[in-house]
Amino acid sequence: MTAVIDLRSDTVSKPTPAMRAAMAAAPVGDDCYADDPSVNALEAEVAALLGKPAALLLPSGTMANQIAVATHARPGEVLACVAEAHVQVHEDASPARLSGVQVEALGDRAGFDADTLAARLLEERCGWPRVGLVWMENTLGLAGGLVWPHEAMRAVFERAQAHRRPVHIDGARLWNAHVASGLPMRTLASVADSVSVCLSKGLGCPVGSVLVGEHDFIARARATRHAFGGALRQAGVLAAAGRHALEHHIARLADDHRRARALWAELKDLPCWTAIEPQTNIVRFDLPAGEDAEPLCARIRARGVLCHPNKYAEIRLVVHLGVDDEAVEATVQRVREALLA
Ligand SMILES: Cc1ncc(COP(=O)(O)O)c(C=O)c1O
Repeated sequence: MTAVIDLRSDTVSKPTPAMRAAMAAAPVGDDCYADDPSVNALEAEVAALLGKPAALLLPSGTMANQIAVATHARPGEVLACVAEAHVQVHEDASPARLSGVQVEALGDRAGFDADTLAARLLEERCGWPRVGLVWMENTLGLAGGLVWPHEAMRAVFERAQAHRRPVHIDGARLWNAHVASGLPMRTLASVADSVSVCLSKGLGCPVGSVLVGEHDFIARARATRHAFGGALRQAGVLAAAGRHALEHHIARLADDHRRARALWAELKDLPCWTAIEPQTNIVRFDLPAGEDAEPLCARIRARGVLCHPNKYAEIRLVVHLGVDDEAVEATVQRVREALLA
């Protein structure tokens, strides 16, 4: 059998030789003293790209999200998020652990609308805890990388603003939403007070996320980063990877999206699942309700395609920088053999 194909996540991609060269050549300084020229340049570039005044480089998307929670909301308040958001299901209950904030889901995993938010805010008159932060995600990871329609997000943002509630977007894959929708990054980011983006997913960096927002918000987030143990020193080597990715790895996400679509088209007729048409780089396969996806994943892995369940009765395949057309063809063949045998 030829090489193993890893479709567990877009986080598994490896830095390219050109990215490694950029990292090796990076000028560095101590970022705790705001002395690292590469970090400062990356933060300025991401802030400009997303149309926000300031930015902060962080080690991970989870830390970026948790710093956003701690900076916007107060202990005893509620983070009202789209159902099954990463912050709700895959961050180990950190809003409660780190910030004393309770997570409450709105709508379903494809999004919620402004009226649903408004209805929740009305319950505060009946003693429900105050919503201190409204949370959207784009693309919607657990839904299978779906793009949350921009006008719907704008309506949520405007309603939250009318009630003076801050809004955050987990934009770990906002780059994919940008390429899929054709809307500029700054437009996508304009419907929130703060946005977190990941460099280590579709953009192919080894480490890094960036949080953007107003100057005052980012100054407070910088202090929280220190409190959470995430302060960085000669992080220019990481920032250089990010700057390289901004230049070379955004437009190419269209290839990932095309390949995800090819996987879906070639595998959707298998009788064991319903394949959800992908909008970006994630293909979701839903099994009949209550059926364990893990045995099917194990059969696929045994044929040399790494994957895992998305939920108990769902499988996901994620396309990334390390997956070419040949790997897509081989995946189709191996998955068909695994599941039709
Ligand atoms: C939507 C979303 N947000 C946040 C994160 C967290 O990123 P990290 O793994 O860098 O902590 C992920 C990771 O997969 C994600 O998919």
